[in-house]
Amino acid sequence: MKKKGFQTRAIHIGNDPDISTGAVTPPIHFSSTFKQDSVGVHQGFDYSRAGNPTRKRFENNIASLEGARFGVSFASGMAAITALFQTLNNGDHVIIGRNVYGGTYRMAVEVLTNHGFEFDFVDTRSIQKIKSAIKTNTKWIFAETPTNPLLELCDIQAISDLCLDNNIKLAIDNTFMSPYGQNPLKLGADVVMHSATKFIGGHSDLVAGVLITNNSSLAEQLYFIQKSGGAILSPFDCWMLLRSTKTLGLRVQKHSDNAMEIAKMLQDSSNAKVVVYPGLDNHSQHALASKQQKNPKGESIYGSMVSFECNSLQSRDKFLSKIKLFTLAESLGGVESLICVPYDMTHASVPQDLKNSMGLSQELLRLSVGIEDSEDLIVDIAQALEE
Ligand SMILES: Cc1ncc(COP(=O)(O)O)c(C=O)c1O
Repeated sequence: MKKKGFQTRAIHIGNDPDISTGAVTPPIHFSSTFKQDSVGVHQGFDYSRAGNPTRKRFENNIASLEGARFGVSFASGMAAITALFQTLNNGDHVIIGRNVYGGTYRMAVEVLTNHGFEFDFVDTRSIQKIKSAIKTNTKWIFAETPTNPLLELCDIQAISDLCLDNNIKLAIDNTFMSPYGQNPLKLGADVVMHSATKFIGGHSDLVAGVLITNNSSLAEQLYFIQKSGGAILSPFDCWMLLRSTKTLGLRVQKHSDNAMEIAKMLQDSSNAKVVVYPGLDNHSQHALASKQQKNPKGESIYGSMVSFECNSLQSRDKFLSKIKLFTLAESLGGVESLICVPYDMTHASVPQDLKNSMGLSQELLRLSVGIEDSEDLIVDIAQALEE
């Protein structure tokens, strides 16, 4: 039978009506514990850290959106990343994108290296550089594409071929594209990670993370870490996420359409020095973005993040003081537009020389374009850019 479409799966998987009452919107199961008919005999749940019906519904739903069998949820994106690295053994080596989210960098360098794991930060745009960083103890490659905030891509298919040749596993942080805009497992990745705080939640009202895979032994390990570590997602947040994914496709398409219009408008302004958006022809990896980032209809999609450099720190601060519809805040992927200064906000914990070497300047602003009317966003940006 032909697999159901993205939107149908988003609405139906994990959302079967409640069998005991017929409620079309499934109830939230807050119970921490479950009745056993006799010792060890129960209906699939015994204690909510180990498993919960509402969590199960969300995990099935999100796995189906990545076209996968297993979804494992966590209390935050960072808890999901940490759980993934907890599958490593002392002495194992990981190659990480040099331009990953600042919190991922902090967890690797300031926490996990103290536990005997080795990390190397590499420019994952270059297959050659990844190849040169492989060691005999390399177990994982962990990359974001596109990256935050410089919107650099890596070629998932090419890296996964390299991983296969070297018996290494590939994890892709797919937060920026969401399952609607990119499906790394189909391109050969072993696991996909999302900060579900972003597009999957979509309303800036919860913090959550997921790992998604087709590999049953990896899934088993991750469920074991989930229940052993206990960084579980609450039933309420699972229910909110089940509600959110019903509109994920509609939202991400509109985010992306708005972002394309804004990127083009910024490109035409003399007060925006460098405009970075994978949908623009002048983005150095535009062809790769068009090939790898596809919506369920197979059309290229470029996401909602646009970065640009102001002419000076003074003009940056003037822009921030004048902009009205974009709120100065960390995070992204919510329906409302946000703006941030990655250098001092999301990437505060990345050393200055590393930021400089990546080209991450203090003048750089990152927009998370929301789903407001694009005309209003454009008028607002235009007035804030006036010097
Ligand atoms: C790309 C990316 N990965 C991971 C994370 C961490 O997720 P969370 O904030 O849900 O812990 C973030 C947070 O901003 C992110 O942007």
